[in-house]
Amino acid sequence: MRKSVVIGAAVVSVASAAVLDLKISIQNTYSVVHVALGTPPVEHTLLYDTGSSTLWVVDSTCSPTNCPNFSGFNRTAYNVSASRTGQEYPNIPGSIDYTGGFVSGILASDTATVEHTSFRQTFAAITQSTWQALPADGFLGLASSSIAFPNTTSFFENIMQHHLADQPRFGLYGGSGISTVANPSPHNNGVLTFGGSREAQYAHGKVKYVDLEVPFQVYKTPFQGLTIKNSVNKTNYQQTWVGDVVADTGSATIYVPQDYVEEIYSATPWTFAAISTGYRPLCSDFTDDWSVSLTLGATGAEQTYTVTGSMLAIPGYVDDDHCFPPFNYWDSQNIIIGAVWLRNFYTVVDFGSSNPEHYKLRIGFAPLKSEYLPKVQK
Ligand SMILES: *[C@@H]1O[C@H](CO)[C@@H](O)[C@H](O)[C@H]1NC(C)=O
Ligand SMILES: *[C@@H]1O[C@H](CO)[C@@H](O)[C@H](O)[C@H]1NC(C)=O
Ligand SMILES: *[C@@H]1O[C@H](CO)[C@@H](O)[C@H](O)[C@H]1NC(C)=O
Ligand SMILES: *[C@@H]1O[C@H](CO)[C@@H](O)[C@H](O)[C@H]1NC(C)=O
Ligand SMILES: *[C@@H]1O[C@H](CO)[C@@H](O)[C@H](O)[C@H]1NC(C)=O
Repeated sequence: MRKSVVIGAAVVSVASAAVLDLKISIQNTYSVVHVALGTPPVEHTLLYDTGSSTLWVVDSTCSPTNCPNFSGFNRTAYNVSASRTGQEYPNIPGSIDYTGGFVSGILASDTATVEHTSFRQTFAAITQSTWQALPADGFLGLASSSIAFPNTTSFFENIMQHHLADQPRFGLYGGSGISTVANPSPHNNGVLTFGGSREAQYAHGKVKYVDLEVPFQVYKTPFQGLTIKNSVNKTNYQQTWVGDVVADTGSATIYVPQDYVEEIYSATPWTFAAISTGYRPLCSDFTDDWSVSLTLGATGAEQTYTVTGSMLAIPGYVDDDHCFPPFNYWDSQNIIIGAVWLRNFYTVVDFGSSNPEHYKLRIGFAPLKSEYLPKVQK
């Protein structure tokens, strides 16, 4: 994608491809980016999500009954009649079932514009949605096209297939903003980079990579072990089981198997018995006295990543003195590392090739430089 032209002793790069940086803002606790659709371009606010694959936008024909909006934010619906380049396909319907909501609609195609770069993008125009609290017009799914809405190609795979990605990778710095009850939409400085990655700016030390599993659907790698060290109570919990770890920016917390949630909590300042009967952890118990390490990746090529208790605090459980429990449980042997984990790292997803037939996917995480760590803004 990048042609090098040698002029005398200097090497000048003529880039036909691009690196696209999308700013990440926080609207009422949701992390969003902006993508324009149509001609003339109309900007849409989208929740970016590595745990799903579809770009969808509420359609202008969707009534307040079918697409209720109690988010407190106005939405900009997609209006195909207002775009010279848009097309909708009522004969190609589809629906998507998320953990937190459901949408259905039809295939659409139009010009997408980000950072002065335009390309044709397929997406879903939504005519029914239960995401009534979503302070955005839709989702920007970043996982595999193989599990996307019918006839759509996920946003970044589409960018690669249009030869617009300088490198077959994207990078994520979620930003330093943390939502609170007092300030649910804090200033944020996150960046989602397509076609390159910005670890030189954000990361402290090297990005440590692990290979992702095939077939590629979501960003999934083998689980190798969980350690919780607690220097106050002198405990060192270590456990492993057969499962996978999924990196999902669309989940707020860390999901662990139901079978292990009780012993995991017993290594923290709380007990599962208390948490499950509504006990609200004090944010002041999220300290550097305890830490959580996860070992991931294929056997023989695994890597260990660590966060301290203070890095897992999500204020706003009724009030800002109380924080949400960092672990949820689910009926699966897999672990989901959600936003509360991922926000502490610079994340790189490297596809190895822009051609789906030659993908060699890996995901890497590097700790953030201290000035980029998320913190509550006073
Ligand atoms: C939403 O739009 C309405 C009508 O244009 C406007 O009165 C209102 O202030 C907007 N609300 C927000 C939160 O921007
Ligand atoms: C969404 O909610 C806002 C604020 O309550 C309201 O102004 C707006 O009309 C609603 N609907 C849409 C489609 O934005
Ligand atoms: C969609 O755009 C058309 C053409 O500009 C306009 O007539 C129509 O009112 C718009 N629909 C909505 C729901 O905004
Ligand atoms: C949708 O996908 C099907 C199956 O791959 C294909 O036959 C059809 O032509 C596609 N339609 C559009 C409008 O892209
Ligand atoms: C240590 O254990 C005590 C008693 O179980 C508990 O109250 C306290 O929160 C624990 N402290 C830490 C840092 O885990």
